[in-house]
Amino acid sequence: MTEAGFGLLENVRKVFFREELGRRAAEDLVAIEEASLAFGQGELVSLLGPSGCGKTTLLRIIAGLIPRTSGSVRIRGAEVDGPQADFGFVFQSPNLMPWRTVLDNVLFPMEILGKRDAKAKERALELLDMVGLTGFGGVRPHQLSGGMQQRVALCRALVHQPSLLLMDEPFGALDELTRMEMHDLLLDIRARTRATVVFVTHSIAEAVYLSDRVLVFSKRPGRIIERIDVELAYPRSPEMRYTEGFAALERRASRALGVLHGPA
Ligand SMILES: Nc1ncnc2c1ncn2[C@@H]1O[C@H](COP(=O)(O)OP(=O)(O)OP(=O)(O)O)[C@@H](O)[C@H]1O
Ligand SMILES: [Mg+2]
Repeated sequence: MTEAGFGLLENVRKVFFREELGRRAAEDLVAIEEASLAFGQGELVSLLGPSGCGKTTLLRIIAGLIPRTSGSVRIRGAEVDGPQADFGFVFQSPNLMPWRTVLDNVLFPMEILGKRDAKAKERALELLDMVGLTGFGGVRPHQLSGGMQQRVALCRALVHQPSLLLMDEPFGALDELTRMEMHDLLLDIRARTRATVVFVTHSIAEAVYLSDRVLVFSKRPGRIIERIDVELAYPRSPEMRYTEGFAALERRASRALGVLHGPA
């Protein structure tokens, strides 16, 4: 499934300078010390690390939403130096527009791109079907549960068939059962759409369950301290969470994060 060289980050560094931090900041803040990584088309890569280590910052840099201080980000060979119309982004909270229906929320990116037509609507409805929200297109976000809202946000991120899907702790606010359902749903959608995904989380189990590869970050200033190839077959199934192979991968990530000590 993977094809090397889809995404390439080289020596990405991010400093928030004193001047941008406000008058009271005594010194510059190094958010990302250095990050280099590569991922292939169709890969699901997780960025796993403690709070404040720079995961969101790195994801925003990949998205072209904020500038990097140095280093390069290339997606499909092209340098990213501003927001990219063909990327999709899912945030920790759904950020749906409350006055719009579910369908109109999903179609929002198509409106921005000037491509809201019958085909777009068909695709939006197809995505809503895929995430189990058949028949909910006409309701307002407040009529949905948190998990349902996040599924709408996922549809919105996918409606324009992005080449790259960036997800920032998208399931962090959900209860554990819903979260596990969302994992299978995301993997299912990824298999169908062949989307390439960069997924930010601080959940070790989530990273292992979803990913082809887990990149573990140090505390701030963040740098990659461990790269774990998750050699568990797809499709993943909930039973895998209880296998020795899964536990071994979790232990490896836990050790890198300093949660576990001692020899492997
Ligand atoms: N716009 C900004 N201006 C100044 N400092 C920032 C800005 N964005 C992030 N930072 C700082 O950069 C560091 C990394 O923040 P970031 O949000 O990337 O962490 P994170 O790994 O996503 O954490 P969490 O898991 O809690 O979401 C933090 O110290 C934060 O205060
Ligand atoms: Mg974050």
